[in-house]
Amino acid sequence: MKRSQMLVLFGVTILVLIIAVMGRLGLFAGSSEPGRPGAGVPAIGGAFTLTDHTGKAVTDQDFRGRYMLVYFGYTFCPDVCPTSLSAMAAALDQVPKAVEAKIVPIFVTVDPARDTQEVLKSYVGNFHPRMVGLTGSEEQVKDAARKYRVYFQKAEQGKDAAYLMDHSSIVYLMDPAGQFVSHFSHTTPPEQMAETIAKAVQSGGL
Ligand code: NI
Repeated sequence: MKRSQMLVLFGVTILVLIIAVMGRLGLFAGSSEPGRPGAGVPAIGGAFTLTDHTGKAVTDQDFRGRYMLVYFGYTFCPDVCPTSLSAMAAALDQVPKAVEAKIVPIFVTVDPARDTQEVLKSYVGNFHPRMVGLTGSEEQVKDAARKYRVYFQKAEQGKDAAYLMDHSSIVYLMDPAGQFVSHFSHTTPPEQMAETIAKAVQSGGL
């Protein structure tokens, strides 16, 4: 074997070892298959304390035993939020009734200054009769968003007071223990969302 070939072989071996070790350490967590619990599931979610659209104080514990389909956005959002919430509702309409009953669609506002309990109350029902709207203090909302790795920021304000919010647009499916199962974007077709949800719920023993 030539010296150059030896060097290439050595380099490839080292690379394979590095990849193997990274895999062991779970450094590829973000690329793990959705819906597969155990090692490699990204740490998304956690405890939160917020107020629902009926004015009741709620925590993540109140949703234990049911799957949460969670989305962070704001009611003033012109397009992305309504699209996401409609997709969530459409997906729930497409899963078997027994599956649907196990899921709580949740909308968490990232704009608590405008999205009061009353505003959420008149908003969530437009999408799904069982959709829960959650708001809270700025700190409570920030805390929940951080745990779900949701970015949000007030966008540059024009002359009028009607500001927009920049925010990540991800629909999370969390299991009855509050663990991350899968996520969708606002461009995920409802059929695909429904299929993933049904599979997860049914494989979870319904
Ligand atoms: Ni939005």
